[in-house]
Amino acid sequence: MALLRSGFIALSKNRTLRSFMERSRMGGKLSSRFVAGMTIEDAVRACQSVNGQGMAVTLDALGESVGDDAAAHRAADVYHSLLDVIAAGKLNANVSVKLTQMGLEVNHGLAENIALELAKHAAALGNFVRIDMEDSSLTQVTLDIVRRIHAQPGLRGAIGIVIQSYLYRSEADIQQLLADGIRVRLCKGAYKEPPEVAFPRKADVDANYVKLSKILLDSAVYHGLATHDEKMIAAAKAHVRERGIARDHYEFQMLYGVRRDLQRELVREGHGMRVYVPFGSEWYPYFMRRLAERPANVFFLAKNLIRN
Ligand code: FDA
Repeated sequence: MALLRSGFIALSKNRTLRSFMERSRMGGKLSSRFVAGMTIEDAVRACQSVNGQGMAVTLDALGESVGDDAAAHRAADVYHSLLDVIAAGKLNANVSVKLTQMGLEVNHGLAENIALELAKHAAALGNFVRIDMEDSSLTQVTLDIVRRIHAQPGLRGAIGIVIQSYLYRSEADIQQLLADGIRVRLCKGAYKEPPEVAFPRKADVDANYVKLSKILLDSAVYHGLATHDEKMIAAAKAHVRERGIARDHYEFQMLYGVRRDLQRELVREGHGMRVYVPFGSEWYPYFMRRLAERPANVFFLAKNLIRN
């Protein structure tokens, strides 16, 4: 399994396969389980359908690190349009943004300014921008940028962050974010990290997830618990029950197309549920990371492809 996982991570960086897949019809068909489509209209349709099932959405305009100012501004424009479309359509949705897509690796100031403008736009519409967390070389700069923007007048509550339970530093980061009143999405973490910064054993990542989710649930701030792991969800539900935590104090979050049965079950039980809906032509690296998380998905997708 570990070999398959590394294989998919290696394939996610293969340019030839990427350009073939992103252009081919078969690629489009394969990706449709996890990616809502190519255009903003496709994303809106998926959002309406998810909203119709009693779940909120966070929209992700897929794209990876950009290499120049113009590309960063083009990516930002898509997000500004999304915020407008969400407001105009009265959709129950916010947006999720990667700072590298906003030019973080070109220069930090560029990404910070773009994120600031997005947070201002979101605040003006009563909405919210979530900054996704990327690999550990970017943890500190991402935290710094989010904390500075959150501290600006009028932007309290308009921007939030993601914390990964595989990092040793995460508990200390959470304490600081809670002191600022910043909303956290807790996930396990999706990047390949060295043992110097991250727990190598899954059991430790899971134990830390449970520990951190309790700290978040006990705080006064609204947070998101992003996981498809039934054990993590059961632990959170038990804690909520024990402490009598109100249902409107937190939400669960899952990825579009992953464990839809569990998503519906949580809604039926009355928990808040938000679905992360990615869309856009640059779907290939995102799609391959989902296969790396669960190589069994390949067989599932292949079966569907043959059936259709
Ligand atoms: P884990 O990987 O242990 O899986 C538990 C179970 O969940 C599996 O046994 C399987 O049943 C199911 N499952 C998990 N992944 C599946 C898949 N792809 N297909 C089918 N079943 C699957 N990461 C990050 O580093 N930065 C970020 O900003 C984010 N943002 C984010 C937002 C949201 C809403 C979610 C749900 C996840 C993220 N992630 C992320 C990804 C996260 O870090 C992690 O890689 C995945 O969620 C998988 O971890 P699980 O908690 O689901 O558990």
